[in-house]
Amino acid sequence: MKRVLLIIGGGIAAYKAPDLVRQLRAQGLAVRCLLTKAAEQFVSPLSLASVSGDKVYENLFDLTDEAEMGHIQLSRDAELILVAPATADLMAKAAQGIANDLASTTLLATDKPVMLAPAMNVRMWKHAATQRNLAQLKTDGLHFVGPEEGDMACGEFGLGRMSEPSEIAARAAALLGGADAPLLRGAQAPLLKGKKVLITAGPTHEPIDPVRYIANRSSGKQGYAIAGALAAMGAEVHLVSGPTALADVAGVKMHRLETADEMYAACHALLPVDIGVMTAAVADWRPDVCADQKLKKTETGLPDLALRENRDILASLGASDKKPELLIGFAAETHNVEAFARDKLARKNCDWIIANNVALDSGIEGGVMGGDENAATLVSQNNVEAFGQMSKTETAQKLAEHIAGYFNSRKTS
Ligand code: CTP
Repeated sequence: MKRVLLIIGGGIAAYKAPDLVRQLRAQGLAVRCLLTKAAEQFVSPLSLASVSGDKVYENLFDLTDEAEMGHIQLSRDAELILVAPATADLMAKAAQGIANDLASTTLLATDKPVMLAPAMNVRMWKHAATQRNLAQLKTDGLHFVGPEEGDMACGEFGLGRMSEPSEIAARAAALLGGADAPLLRGAQAPLLKGKKVLITAGPTHEPIDPVRYIANRSSGKQGYAIAGALAAMGAEVHLVSGPTALADVAGVKMHRLETADEMYAACHALLPVDIGVMTAAVADWRPDVCADQKLKKTETGLPDLALRENRDILASLGASDKKPELLIGFAAETHNVEAFARDKLARKNCDWIIANNVALDSGIEGGVMGGDENAATLVSQNNVEAFGQMSKTETAQKLAEHIAGYFNSRKTS
């Protein structure tokens, strides 16, 4: 039986926790509860112990519990960590990696999927700080259910109500779909379960000597967000990443490397895959030779940097007899977006191109490269769809939905 560790935050919606425990159990899941200190004001540990049929955990510094079951063990023993209600405070801690009580320490210690059901006042939800934390958590690969719009306990109306326990339980069960499928009772199975995905992201670094390299401004944000979105749909995701400042994406197999050559080798070693999403800004050229020792300007003078062209990873996958069933390339264009994208589709033998408008007058703050927003257009053989300007997380979600839709329509046709 699959286990859920339910972390209950200190919000009014915590009173729904016993009902949520019942609903999770009705989905065939075992539930163990962990209460924050504030949550104890809203729901009693005793009632949770009786509905879950298990001990309720509360305090990091309870030495007996640490001896019996440390916070690490607590998170390892569950297949999913569900945070409901996820308060603004818990979201902030999780986004920042703060660990100062049992709930936040457990969230930091886990390598299991984490799902949050936020609940808070509409103004707290809409606050820039919460939205920043939300974006970070989504980039980190955490899953969200809700919040919904509705009347709130504080008398206001708006976005911030926790989703209904039945909805949260169904989503948790769907995320855990698979081995216990017969227990899922109508919950939808993860859309991309069984699909293997290869994603490239970030820039590559092409060394000149042991301390210098050629690089570009790619941040990797879009590729990491796509990895998180596809993993959330149950796919086995491999993220082959050049050097970035981004944290590993939870639930995704990370392959970190530096050069275009290493990226080429890593991608081919992962074949066969069902889906390839090539977001990396692979350096087009590398220095023909990399000096063994640091080039000294007094000795070398102006170095003669002869360049060689790097192999095109996307084109090599398109030409491979192991070509992924759905191969998606990215393009950075300033003009003639559709025409250039079509040309790239044909040249690299891929199925879709996601064209990004990188024109300086695109209106995107901070630019597409390195920024948090994108304005992508999906171009396929017979279709062009502009996604519109949105965050990279939303762009990733939208692309993931198109990918799921592609496989779903193939299944049913
Ligand atoms: N790509 C790759 N390996 C390379 C170069 C590019 O896999 N050595 C992939 C990128 O990950 C991306 C697509 O090919 O999916 C981008 O193609 P590219 O021709 O580099 O497009 P642009 O950057 O738009 O360049 P250009 O303006 O020259 O068309």
